[in-house]
Amino acid sequence: MMMKTLGLSAVLSAALSAGLIGPALAAEVEVLHWWTSGGEAKSVAELKKMLEAKGDTWKDFAVAGGGGESAMTVLKSRVVSGNPPTAAQIKGPSIQEWGDEGVLANLDPVAEAEGWDKLLPGVVSEVMKYDGHYVAVPVNVHRVNWLWVNPQVFEKSGAEIPTTWDEFFVAADKIKAAGFTPVAHGGQPWQDSTMFEDVVLGVGGVDFYRSAFVDLDADALNSDTMIEALEIFKRIKQYTDEGASGRDWNLATAMVINGKAGMQFMGDWAKGEFTAAGQVPGKDYLCVPAPGTTNDFTFNIDSFVMFSLSGDDAGKGQENLAVTIMSPEFQEIFNLNKGSIPARLDVSMDKFDDCAKKSNQDFIKSAEDNTLIPSMAHGMSTFSSVQGAIFDAVTQFYNADGMTAKEAAANMVSAVQAARY
Ligand code: BGC
Repeated sequence: MMMKTLGLSAVLSAALSAGLIGPALAAEVEVLHWWTSGGEAKSVAELKKMLEAKGDTWKDFAVAGGGGESAMTVLKSRVVSGNPPTAAQIKGPSIQEWGDEGVLANLDPVAEAEGWDKLLPGVVSEVMKYDGHYVAVPVNVHRVNWLWVNPQVFEKSGAEIPTTWDEFFVAADKIKAAGFTPVAHGGQPWQDSTMFEDVVLGVGGVDFYRSAFVDLDADALNSDTMIEALEIFKRIKQYTDEGASGRDWNLATAMVINGKAGMQFMGDWAKGEFTAAGQVPGKDYLCVPAPGTTNDFTFNIDSFVMFSLSGDDAGKGQENLAVTIMSPEFQEIFNLNKGSIPARLDVSMDKFDDCAKKSNQDFIKSAEDNTLIPSMAHGMSTFSSVQGAIFDAVTQFYNADGMTAKEAAANMVSAVQAARY
C-alpha cells in the first residue's frame, strides 16, 4: 500500500512539474473590495484564508475609502478596459446597473445546487438577482441606524442615553459642557448622509423615509418634514470637533473607543473596530438605535458579484468563492469580525455579542412589522447616480454658511430629478 501511494504521488508530482497536468481545482481569484480598516481587514482575511485552504490563490484588490466610492471608480475603469476582476463588492440596486451592462456571470447552477432560495431571507435574495437569476452572493446584513455610545463619557457628563432628538441635544450639551466631543464624525459625503438618513428616519418615520429615498417623491423631498430633518442634521454639526472635516470613519470610531467622544452615528461595521480593539458591548461601549428609530432597521447588505470571464479556471474559482462565502463557517467567522449578522437564516447566533443578537432579532421583527428599510447612504435604496445627487445636496448644505434648510430641500429635489432623467 505504502509503495503504491508513494508511487502514485511521485507520478503526479512529476506530471505537475512537467506541466503535463494543471492543478485541477486551483484558480487565482482577484477580489475587489474596500475593507481596509482594522476590523474590515480582519474580516476579509478570513475569506482569503478559507479560499487558500481550498487551494486557490487570493489576489487582493483593495481600494481604500469607506462607503466604496473610490472602489467603484477603479472598478469601472477595469471593466471598461476589458479586464474585470474575478469578483467585486457591489451592492443593492447597483447590481441591476451592472446586470444591464451584460458583464455578470450567472450563479444559478451553484445557487440551485446549494439551495440559496431556502437559505436566504427574501429581502436578501431579491437584491442578489438580476432578471430572476442569481448574479451576486451575500456576505452579511449590516444595520445602519445605530448610535455608538461611550458609557464612561456619558457618566462623567451626567448625560442620559437619548431615544428622541430632543433628548439627543440635551445629552450633547452635557457632554460638551464636560469637555468631551459629543459626536465623533468624519466629514465625508457618505458619512454625512449616513447621519442624515438617521435623522430623516427618526423625524419622518418609515413611510416618509420610503417616499423620500425609495420612491424619490418630490413632495416628500421638498416637505416640511424634510426641512425639519435638515435643520436637526445641521444642528448636530456644532457638536462635532474641528478635525471632523475629511476624517475617515474608523478614526471617528476610535474617538469613541478611547473616550474622547461620547457618540458616533454609524452602521455596525463600527462594531468591527470596537471588537478589534478588544472592547465588549454593554461594558466598554453601547449600541443603541439612533434617536426615534427604535423599531426600525435600515439595512445594508454586502455582496459580491462575479464577472463573466473566459476559461474553466475562472469559473471554478468563482464557484469556490461563492460556495465559501455562503458556507455557515464563513458567515459566522466573517460576521463576528465585521460587526454584521449572517445573511443566511440558519447560522447560530450563539457566539455573537449582544449587539449582533439584537440586530438579528430586530432584523426579523422589522421584516414582520414592515419597518425594514434600505439604506440610502449605503446604496440600497436607489441607483448610484441618484444617491450621488442626494449626497451632494446634503454635504453642500452641511458645510455651507447661510444656506437655509428650505433651499437645501429644493436643491435636493432638482438634483434628484436631474440624476433620474
Ligand atoms: C459597507 C461596509 C463597510 C463600510 C465602510 C459600507 O458601505 O457596506 O461593508 O465596512 O461601508 O467602508
